[in-house]
Amino acid sequence: MVRRLAEMSNLYTPWSLRTAVTLGLPDLIAEGPEGVLGVEELAKRSGTDTDALRRLTRHLANLGLFEEVRPDGLRLTELGEALRSTHPARMAHFLDQNDAFIRSNDAVIPAMADSIRTGAAAWGSVFGKDLWGSLAADPELSASFDRTMSQHADILGRRLAGIGEWSSVGSVVDVGGGSGQLLANILREHGHLKGTVVDLPDTVARAAAIFDAAGVSDRAEGVGRSFFEPLPAGADVYLLVHVLHNWPTGEAAKILRNCAEAAGGSGKVFVVDQVIALEGHAAPFISTQRDLCMLAMVGGQERTAEEFEALGEEAGLRLVQVTSLGPDGNSLLEFESRG
Ligand SMILES: C[S@@+](CC[C@H](N)C(=O)[O-])C[C@H]1O[C@@H](n2cnc3c(N)ncnc32)[C@H](O)[C@@H]1O
Repeated sequence: MVRRLAEMSNLYTPWSLRTAVTLGLPDLIAEGPEGVLGVEELAKRSGTDTDALRRLTRHLANLGLFEEVRPDGLRLTELGEALRSTHPARMAHFLDQNDAFIRSNDAVIPAMADSIRTGAAAWGSVFGKDLWGSLAADPELSASFDRTMSQHADILGRRLAGIGEWSSVGSVVDVGGGSGQLLANILREHGHLKGTVVDLPDTVARAAAIFDAAGVSDRAEGVGRSFFEPLPAGADVYLLVHVLHNWPTGEAAKILRNCAEAAGGSGKVFVVDQVIALEGHAAPFISTQRDLCMLAMVGGQERTAEEFEALGEEAGLRLVQVTSLGPDGNSLLEFESRG
């Protein structure tokens, strides 16, 4: 029992993974001859101390990430492969301490007790302003935040593009859509669709390059505007992906109401967020962990389907369908006007 508690609470283990990724170890091992590299060579290639590195790699071997295939020959296990920068799960990005946003986000976690006492984001008690204020004040942090969101958006955008709802949709507005990566993925798959991304001006400024790279510039535009202001009206679908969970109930209902008003009687609002304990595809551990992350980072929260339904009602919307987007707890919640 005590051992289990120690494994759950000891910070050296999660930081060993971060350290390995930050030093680029998984990629370096994979690039070795036949995917095997000795510790001495790994130390040379990563600019680290051989003895200290050996001690780190032993712990990582204990965790089942690396294996010693011959004396002084390390190889990635299947689990370790998922820490390579090229792995589709993008885990490496979320651990890499070279990245300004990841570093800041991790620095907030030790102040979680502040959030539990106050119900507000711990980000403010660590950095003296909320996340959005920090991003506005620091272009490097803001670019890094947008890059991190694009990693999520790339994965989710591919899943959303494949759900088959789009053939009857002509236009979509991605509200709080970051630099447009998710919208670009959907437009690329559905050549008839036109799209608009609405986000804060500095973030939307990065969208043109992403639309260009995806070959969808002729059907996509960016609007730099707060989603607490009226939104471009008359589109068929308003998308809110990983937006509502950033906000407490009052603000979340206001964003949803703005979407409902812009959508009018016939438009739809699609929300993508974690849904806590969705039956059939429940991911309670991921949801509860993400819920704490939302609390500490921005004072937001993950919600159950019932809580989303109530939020929709406040905004004049009816929840008509909930579709799981995979085992990570993300779901698509489709709302339409209550008339
Ligand atoms: C968690 S990110 C999600 C981004 C994107 N939808 C995705 O799934 O990757 C939240 C987004 O909300 C944007 N945002 C925050 N406050 C905003 C505001 N007042 N008006 C418009 N966008 C805002 C942020 O810039 C950020 O892009």
